[in-house]
Amino acid sequence: MKVSVFGAGYVGLVTAACLAERGHKVVCVDVDPSKVERIQAGETPFFEPGLADLVRKGQSQGRFEATTSAGKALEGSEVSVIAVGTPDRNGAIDLRYVLEVARTLGDFLGEAAGFHTVIISSTVIPGTTVGPVLDVLEGRSGKRGGEDFGLGTNPEFLREGTAVQDFLVPDRMVLGALGPRTAEVMQAVYHAFDCPKLVVHPTEAECIKYTANALLSTLISFSNEIFSLCEELPGVSGRRVLEGALADRRWTPLVDGKLLQTGIQSYVMGGVGYGGSCFPKDMNAITAMAHERGWRVPLLDAVVAVNRARPRAIIARLKQEAGGLKDRKVAVLGLAFKPGTDDWRNSPSQPLVEALLEENAQVVAWDPLVGPESVAEWRGLVGLVRSAGEVLDGAFAALIATAWPEIAEWPWKDLTPRMAQPLIYDGRNVLTEISWASNVRYIAAGAGSNYGAA
Ligand SMILES: NC(=O)c1ccc[n+]([C@@H]2O[C@H](COP(=O)([O-])OP(=O)(O)OC[C@H]3O[C@@H](n4cnc5c(N)ncnc54)[C@H](O)[C@@H]3O)[C@@H](O)[C@H]2O)c1
Repeated sequence: MKVSVFGAGYVGLVTAACLAERGHKVVCVDVDPSKVERIQAGETPFFEPGLADLVRKGQSQGRFEATTSAGKALEGSEVSVIAVGTPDRNGAIDLRYVLEVARTLGDFLGEAAGFHTVIISSTVIPGTTVGPVLDVLEGRSGKRGGEDFGLGTNPEFLREGTAVQDFLVPDRMVLGALGPRTAEVMQAVYHAFDCPKLVVHPTEAECIKYTANALLSTLISFSNEIFSLCEELPGVSGRRVLEGALADRRWTPLVDGKLLQTGIQSYVMGGVGYGGSCFPKDMNAITAMAHERGWRVPLLDAVVAVNRARPRAIIARLKQEAGGLKDRKVAVLGLAFKPGTDDWRNSPSQPLVEALLEENAQVVAWDPLVGPESVAEWRGLVGLVRSAGEVLDGAFAALIATAWPEIAEWPWKDLTPRMAQPLIYDGRNVLTEISWASNVRYIAAGAGSNYGAA
């Protein structure tokens, strides 16, 4: 099939390259010419393992191209996928980019001869597909959705850092289809993906996406609340408490007498709070939708509040442990919202750095991937370095904000003597196995200050 994909960001470019890999002829369109030029040159505008190889493979086999021209992308196309951003604006969802593409597609549908199907992969609040998007498409084309053209929602569940693998080998696909003809087209688009496919109403598909993210956010805030409690209890490590609780076979299946680590255990572990380009904005969007309509969502409100409070609580504790932070160098280890990505959008490192700046600390950050634009908004107040020695030299405290695996491999025995004060706050529990020298104060998130002391 010939497919046009709107948006060459994380979701759009991964979708386009993977659909090409699965045999479709795909044109990816983005309004940002610099992104398109990089893709045309066989590069990706952001770091995502395996994606550049897939882009180049698709290009060399004539199944993938990128353009800034929507008209060119739509020539002969049978399916359009909308994968543009749906950012947070004043704590609610901003649908302007989705509706802009819908207007382009509505005009195209008015002229198109065959049955063209529009699929929304952007995360949109429940009711968007059969509400404003359908209104725009029908209004501009003069045709009927589900009858004259197809309309569906295929929410994306990929995780940055493993996006290509997640897309090519999905756990499930949710096909929210307006009518049986759309469902048939969606099945055809995704036929080469071997996984359970849930065919539902578009609004159910939108709800599934928000529910999935709200569930994970809830578990993370739950873990952070348990961490806060455990930090007050002498002799208690929140990590060990949660590991013990999650060892229940309903969370952690028992296979051949051993507890199977599925990944959920580390994913929902407490730490510095959830972040990234999805959870914070999706939680804001769903709670804002409920508030606007007068629906009560006290649990979801609390999930957001716990997450917002966590970074400040961490910095308050660091200040106390360090004996003050003013004019002192603090090393922030990790800016990306998780390892394996250069994406720092809404990363928990941001409120941590902001709280440190409010304390007038001298902040120097280390991250192996994120670029200087991540610290530019702090206008020279935050340095960004790439070496362990540089970030730790003369520091009064180190704060681990991202669980980058290389941090655990650093020669800490040699590094801590270079710090002005060897205080390490491990916000991700990545250094729990190290035996520290007696002068090092190592504090793991979820554990009290004297945890582990003889
Ligand atoms: N990033 C993730 O891990 C992830 C996972 C699942 C779902 N989502 C959702 O997918 C959507 C896209 O997220 P993203 O992270 O890929 O966003 P992104 O910001 O990385 O990319 C969006 C792209 O859309 C382009 N764009 C804007 N208007 C356009 C137009 N009119 N025509 C063509 N391109 C246009 C932008 O230039 C940008 O390149 C969002 O709704 C997000 O919530 C993201």
